[in-house]
Amino acid sequence: MNKVGIHRLAFYTSHYYLDLAILANARGIEVNKFYIGLGQSKMAVPAPDEDIVTLAANAAKRALNDINVNEIDTILFATESGIDQSKAAGVYVKSLLGLPNRVRVIELKQACYGATAALQFATAMVAKQPHKKILVLAADVARYGFNTGGESSQGCGAIAMLITANPSILAIEPETGLYTDDVMDFWRPNYRSEALVEGHYSTKIYLHALEQTWQHYQEESGRNFKDHDYFCYHTPVPRLVEKAHQTLLKIAGELPVESNKTHEQLKPILYYGRETGNSYSAALYISLISLLDNTAEELSHKRIGFYSYGSGCVAEFFSGVVQPEYRQVLATEFHRQHLASRQALTYQEYEAFYSYQLPTNGGECFTPKHETGDFRLAGIKEHKRIYKLVNQPEILSKETKAAISKALSPGKLILSGEHAVNFGKPVLAMAIDRYAQTTIASHDPEQVTFNLLDFNYKNSFTINTLRALKRRVKEKYKEFLAGKVGIREVLQQPFELTQYAVVNWLDHMNTKFNRGLDIHTTSSIPVGCGMGSSAASVLSVLKAITRFHDMSWDREQYYTIAKEIEQLQHGKSSGIDVYISLHGGCVYFKEGQAEPRPLPTVPLFLVNTGTPAATTGESVSHVLEHFGQDSIWQTFETVTNIMDKALQANDLPEVQSAIRDNHRLLTKIEVVPAKVQRFITEIEAQGAAAKISGAGAVTGDQAGALLVVTEQVEPIKQLCHQYGYDLLEVKAVERGLHAL
Ligand code: HMG
Repeated sequence: MNKVGIHRLAFYTSHYYLDLAILANARGIEVNKFYIGLGQSKMAVPAPDEDIVTLAANAAKRALNDINVNEIDTILFATESGIDQSKAAGVYVKSLLGLPNRVRVIELKQACYGATAALQFATAMVAKQPHKKILVLAADVARYGFNTGGESSQGCGAIAMLITANPSILAIEPETGLYTDDVMDFWRPNYRSEALVEGHYSTKIYLHALEQTWQHYQEESGRNFKDHDYFCYHTPVPRLVEKAHQTLLKIAGELPVESNKTHEQLKPILYYGRETGNSYSAALYISLISLLDNTAEELSHKRIGFYSYGSGCVAEFFSGVVQPEYRQVLATEFHRQHLASRQALTYQEYEAFYSYQLPTNGGECFTPKHETGDFRLAGIKEHKRIYKLVNQPEILSKETKAAISKALSPGKLILSGEHAVNFGKPVLAMAIDRYAQTTIASHDPEQVTFNLLDFNYKNSFTINTLRALKRRVKEKYKEFLAGKVGIREVLQQPFELTQYAVVNWLDHMNTKFNRGLDIHTTSSIPVGCGMGSSAASVLSVLKAITRFHDMSWDREQYYTIAKEIEQLQHGKSSGIDVYISLHGGCVYFKEGQAEPRPLPTVPLFLVNTGTPAATTGESVSHVLEHFGQDSIWQTFETVTNIMDKALQANDLPEVQSAIRDNHRLLTKIEVVPAKVQRFITEIEAQGAAAKISGAGAVTGDQAGALLVVTEQVEPIKQLCHQYGYDLLEVKAVERGLHAL
């Protein structure tokens, strides 16, 4: 019988990646947990105009560059990142590659295992009709929730392999070991764009299934460990592959092998995976490509064992033998150049890519243009994805090309002087590395669609409906000023602030929208915790919409309008949140005058104790009523001035002492809930200092953000753990509101 197997093979990943050091820094995690603990250096991040179709088409274009595509009989596309419940993604690839219509195209799914199923089906088809050529594609975007345990094991990539008789690269052997079990280690319900995962359980099942499939494979093939020269494993994170290899060595009775020897053996196999992250169905075959491209030793006639695992779970162990002419047809140079020319993302760019969402309600969109190889997803129109060859004349009109705008605005932390600012006393505050971000794109001409991700809210409105909302909110605010209603009654929902900002912009500019708008906002600033999330959101919306209309405002205009809007949320705004978010940096602020200060360099942390039961407006009113005439405000001023000097001198003990004094004063004015006071007492017992940052709360247990100043992080982490709080390192940032 003819040999059947892989005749051509190539992979493609995104042009963009995030170094895990940047993610570690943003998440307050020791970078070696990722670099060493997971063995992962970078993760590929898809651009908004990139998906499984463009990734797979790019891989296939390279794999087929010397092949007559008219000979392809079938395309099998494995993915778990499907873009349609009905149409196979491979049909789009067929068009993009210019394949003839006389071809069969189908999509397969079983988590990361799908590509192995496709490979096995393809070899069976070719074995039956040896003149046929089958194109196997596998492409995925590995996506987990923001700031979750899985976040560091994201990635994306695609492989294309042409399966033929008498293959040039690898002959697949017929014996396989199989294992299926109904487990919930990882899954993605239809309504979610991110996977759900029981991380540690999934690794356990992965290793268990390896043992099971190996045993079955041995029974079927009669081969033992030493009959194989190399092993390739499904690679969710490289460290798990090292564990898998150790497991196999153990069952095969080959241990002990020093772990650094295992590390060396697996180096060429894991080389590309460390650079791209998980690519689910493509990952096992990227490890094969990595082995073939990066092993100096001649591999002809070497047998490779393959372990394919797909959560849920289905697993298979099989083998293949490298063919003598393999080197002549590898795409090694293409792969190396592709990886070497990639672009590193900043944390904010990663957030922006991650948060970008295509409309899910039938809305039209044009995706912003990025580097996506030879193919891109240009947009969606009438529920249909529009794919384009990159060197094809641009389909977007000039007007539409300009019609995407993005803006970022940072949150803030008050270092000292909250409440006192309302009595003419100084306040020290700084912008921090957490942002609200707004993206605006063209949309249905009649509508403004709000996609407010933090509130899990999506809805479309006509301008008339938005005007009615504005009238209602303004009326209520008047009643608030007249003392007839509380501030909570002004906005019925917090997201109405964004809607108000949009229609207010329109009225302020005395203009009308000549296109509909699709407005996405997302934020990494905790909402309602005294960190300026409302001000940052309003500013990012105003900036994005101004830029979208090719207009420009000066900072004074942004300040005045955003402050006016922010008052609807907070009652009477001191303007600090807006000022800091707009200008960035660290500022000493007194009676409306701002003096810039150098960014603090002492180690600052943030603890979110949860959204206070009382709003900022309610806490401010309480303080005004009960302490308005108190002499305490002078002491607040003294403490703020001490803190100001100590921060400039980078004098940690003096900063901590001022923080403790500040905390005592805040406790006196009754804005520190009892539970938070207990927590701060325990923090102080550890030699650290903490205070609320923001309005605090006059009722309930939660006080929003706490500022913690300490050099000893571990004991504070443990305390946070006991109280159920998270500890985050925060950094001051120089840059305020800006467009991306
Ligand atoms: P985790 O909680 O991020 O990490 O989970 P951890 O706490 O288990 O730590 C990982 C390693 O880092 C440990 O070493 C730590 O000691 C070490 P190990 O015990 O493994 O030897 N570590 C450090 N090392 C050096 N310096 C430090 C440091 N700190 C800690 N400072 C996990 C890791 C992979 C579970 C997580 O990333 C996750 O949930 N990922 C998503 C799920 C996944 O990838 N599962 C893998 C098996 S399932 C599968 O492969 C299928 C899948 O591809 C989907 C499909 O089939 O479609 C996911």
